[in-house]
Parts: sequence; structure tokens; C-alpha cells
Amino acid sequence: MSIHIFEDLVEFIEAKINDNIWLFGDKLPSIRCLAAEHGVSKNTVIRALMELEQKGLVEAKPKVGYFVSKINKTHKIPQQLYPNLAPLEVTVPEIFYDIMSRSAAFDILPKSTPLPPSNHLIELNRHISRALRDSVHNKSMYYDSPLGLESLRQQIKDRYRLRGLSLGVDDFCITSGCQHALFLALLVTCKPGDNVAVESPAFYGVVQLLEQLNLNIIEVSASAVSGLDPDELEKALAHWQIKACIVTPTFATPTGSTMPVKAREKLISLANAHDFAVIEDDIYGELSFTNNIAPLKALDSQQRVILCSSFSKSLSRDLRIGWIAAGRWQDDVVRLKLTSQLASCQTQQQGIASFISSGGFRRHLDHFTRTLQHQRQQLLTALAKYWPNNIRYTVPKGGIALWLELDSNIDTAKLYNETIKETIIITPGALFTCSNYYRNYIRLSFNHPTVGKREKAIKTLGQLIKNHST
Ligand SMILES: Cc1ncc(COP(=O)(O)O)c(C=O)c1O
Repeated sequence: MSIHIFEDLVEFIEAKINDNIWLFGDKLPSIRCLAAEHGVSKNTVIRALMELEQKGLVEAKPKVGYFVSKINKTHKIPQQLYPNLAPLEVTVPEIFYDIMSRSAAFDILPKSTPLPPSNHLIELNRHISRALRDSVHNKSMYYDSPLGLESLRQQIKDRYRLRGLSLGVDDFCITSGCQHALFLALLVTCKPGDNVAVESPAFYGVVQLLEQLNLNIIEVSASAVSGLDPDELEKALAHWQIKACIVTPTFATPTGSTMPVKAREKLISLANAHDFAVIEDDIYGELSFTNNIAPLKALDSQQRVILCSSFSKSLSRDLRIGWIAAGRWQDDVVRLKLTSQLASCQTQQQGIASFISSGGFRRHLDHFTRTLQHQRQQLLTALAKYWPNNIRYTVPKGGIALWLELDSNIDTAKLYNETIKETIIITPGALFTCSNYYRNYIRLSFNHPTVGKREKAIKTLGQLIKNHST
């Protein structure tokens, strides 16, 4: 397909919307009509529409067609804050434990009727059931090897190869989820009292680990779009010794940011120059709506990037299967896993490996990322409809969440206590820092469709926010 033809079509539709020829809510001509009118293939039209969907200009309604969506085209992104670059002892905010007891607030209505299971997950369960039946004969009397099941590590290795990272099967060790992998990574690289640099806003699970391990946090400013700011990290390194830096380069939570290649290169060169470990949380790495994004570890020439991830976001949180590729610390990690966990469940690993090798995981991801992209659009449309128009927000090209900055009068931790009465669970900004930042920020997930009761909940939240803004 010629790039010109594609770009011309994107520009044509964009101009119709920007010039208010096609208005909010208007149905776009059908894919067939657009293809015939512009003398292009239907595939070119579909790609152009997907690109415009990412830009927030159009919205797909399944089986109906594409519509102009009411997204504020000149929306502002949340402001980047610059925390004080000094080590702090960590205290996890009390609100954390409350939210974790309510499904970590990746859903504003966790008590609502569950969604019907996807066909892919039913297929995964079949693979696990088959592995369970086989296990009666050969698995139940023996522990798995400390590295984890080779056939699963092989599948994980192959998936990374597709994303531009070439590692060997034994470079991976299976863990009990990504949180466990992060825990092992910190244990092998740091001792109590060491300083750990963390992007700010930070994943609250990391904050919790630092508290538990008596490690000091240095919160390093991160942009809501391009993630950890390596220039800020460099400033911190001028004053403090840092043993490890934990970063989510691809679709970080809470912002959805992705670090550009230049920033990744600078981070690696700082790590090499100052001799610290980089702990990469890649849990959202496969949830890209566009192209495959290589993990940071693909740039690692000194075996100092520890790659941590799991199937929790890409497949199911309930599997409790993750992995770690710890480079120069791999032997220490494997020994520590043996000490702390002995082994992982072979049946579960066997079932996942067989699901991936059958092509089920690839099909699931294709479907899931399209669904997430559609749900992101639904959420943005609801925000445009029901929330005040002075909000700032990110529009990530992957992952499962948006980061929003509200009116400076609003304290989202107080709002949390209010919305709980309406059984709506929000994730306040206070959760993503050890200091007093992000008071008027909030993370919203698009892991569920914003329809029915969830759309109503977004409306109610919008009303509460409007009441507090005035
Ligand atoms: C960025 C990030 N890392 C790690 C985890 C924990 O993952 P797991 O369920 O695999 O332990 C989460 C869960 O929310 C997360 O958002």
C-alpha cells in the first residue's frame, strides 16, 4: 500500500471533521463507499479509520460503522510535576490497602455483574484442564525445576523475539506474577537503606515493595506522555548513589506513557556510567494498539536490565504466572526463587504454554487490544459528555488506563471517600507517590466497557467533580 494514499485518506477525513463538515455524532460514509470514492482498498480505509480512532476523532460502533466522536481535539495533557530529588523513607498511604481490597480499582464498579468470559479465555481454560488431567500421571509427585517449565519459557522467549529482544530459554525464570518478579529483582540488587529511583507518578506496588524492604525512594519526574525524564534522573545521580531504577518504559501505570528511544538510550547509558540496575516492568508491553514495542532490555549490552512481567494484564490476573530475566543477577534470582517459592505450578505453566503454541494467545491479543482501544474511545467519549471541560488527560496508545488532572480545588483522596458511598471506586493520585503530589489527579481504567451502569457511574463522578470545582 502506498503511504501517500493512506496519509491522503487520513488527512481527507481529518479535514472534514476539523472543518466541521462532519459533525459530532455524524456517521461516516461506509468503508465500502470510502474505498470506492478514493480508489483504495478496504484495508487502507480500515487502517486510516483506526489511526483516526487513536487520535480520538472517530469512534467505531460494532456492526454499525464509524462516527465522529466528541473528543476535545485540543485536549491538554496532565502537567508533569517535579518532585524533590532526595531519598525518602517510604510509607504506603493507608488508602492503598483499602483500594487493594476492592480489586485495585481497575474497575470503577467492581461489584457490578461480571462480563461474559471471552472465547479465548474459555479456550485457555481448556488447555489448562487438559494439562491438569495429564498431571495426575507425571507431575504431582515432583517439583518443577527452579527456572520453571522449559516449554513455557520457550514460548515467552519467542514472543520477545517478535518484539526485538533475543534471549535464551534459560535467561528467563518463571515467577508468581510480576509483583513477585519485582520483589526478587529488588532483593538481589539492593540492601536495606539503599536508594531506588522510581518514575513519578509511580506504580503503587513498587512503593509497597520499597517500604517492605526498607529501601529509600527517589521520585524522579516523568512526563504523562514520554515517561521517566532521564535528565531529572541525571540530576539525582549528581547528588545520590542509586542502586536500582524501577521503570515501566511501555504504557506505564498510571499515565500510559511510553519512553521514546532516545530517553531509553540515555537511561541505559546513565546506568552503565553510574553502575546501577535497571528494573524494567514490562507488564503492559504486549498491549500496544499500534506497533510492537521493543522492551528496554533490547538495548542492554551490560546485562544490567532486569526484565519483569507476567500474564496478569495480557491474559488473566488469576493465573499468577510471571517471569524475570535478570541478566547478571540471574543465578541469584533463581536461588532466591527456590528459597522463597520452591517451584511454580507445572500444570498451570503447561496449560499456558500449550495455549500460546496453539496460536490462541496471539488471537486473544489481537482481539483484546482492539477491544481495549474501543473501550478507551468509549471512556473518552463519556468524559467529553459528562465531565467538566477543563480536565487534562492522556490518550495512551496501549495499556489499560488514562491519567487525568482535575481542577486544582479537587482532592481525589477525599472524592474517593465520597464515591465509595455510591459503590464507585476511583484510584486517587495520592496512591502513586510517597509525597504530597498528584492530589488532584486520578487514574481511570478502560479495562471494561463504559456502557450501562459504568457509563452512569462516570456521569455521577462527573457531577461530583463539577460540584467540587465551583
Ligand atoms: C505496573 C504493574 N506492575 C506489576 C503489577 C503486578 O502484576 P502481577 O499481577 O503479575 O503480580 C501491576 C498490577 O497492577 C502493575 O500495574
